[in-house]
Amino acid sequence: MRPHHIRKVLFSAEEIAGRVDALVCEIGRTCEAGSLVLVGILRGSFIFFADLVRGLFYHHLHPRIDFTLLQSYGAGTESSGKVEVERDISVDVRGAEVVLVDDILDTGRTLHFAVQRMYAKGARSVKSCVLLDKPSRRIAPISADFVGFTVEDVFVVGYGLDYDSYYRELPYIAELTFTDDRSAGNEQP
Ligand code: IMP
Ligand code: MG
Repeated sequence: MRPHHIRKVLFSAEEIAGRVDALVCEIGRTCEAGSLVLVGILRGSFIFFADLVRGLFYHHLHPRIDFTLLQSYGAGTESSGKVEVERDISVDVRGAEVVLVDDILDTGRTLHFAVQRMYAKGARSVKSCVLLDKPSRRIAPISADFVGFTVEDVFVVGYGLDYDSYYRELPYIAELTFTDDRSAGNEQP
């Protein structure tokens, strides 16, 4: 692990809760209740997913839920470029309206892969909901249907997001800075 520290809080727990409520309303307005399946992309989405699902209850939406464990990152901060399915969904999504939930849309490779996979499994429609969007890093041709916050090209942790499996428990989202990166004006990984 590289030497690093938490530089600053970008979104407080209260700000996140407010945005999650708004996303729940958007999903409630846009999605048909009948055949809705929410699929969380592990591991980063687990806290966001739990808050969304509980919010949907208050909008009288009772989706089926499942998870898939997709991995494109090693122990570092750069995407390996190849997405692997470590755990697949088991819910039958044929004819269903699927909403994929992920923590962050970075290069877009993970979500692009997941969308294709849901269609290949017979989903009628596939939408995506991400807490954070880093549009400046996009490589794959994808944008999310529901976005919590847009962030700059910085490495973030907390509220489910990790660095080397640490920091997922933080109730807020913070910027992580690497203290071994001496390049002037650029402290990113
Ligand atoms: P993508 O396939 O490049 O879009 O990467 C998506 C995955 O990379 C996310 O689901 C995260 O798990 C991870 N990721 C991307 N950026 C960050 C970050 O700033 N902090 C923590 N994890 C990140
Ligand atoms: Mg992830």
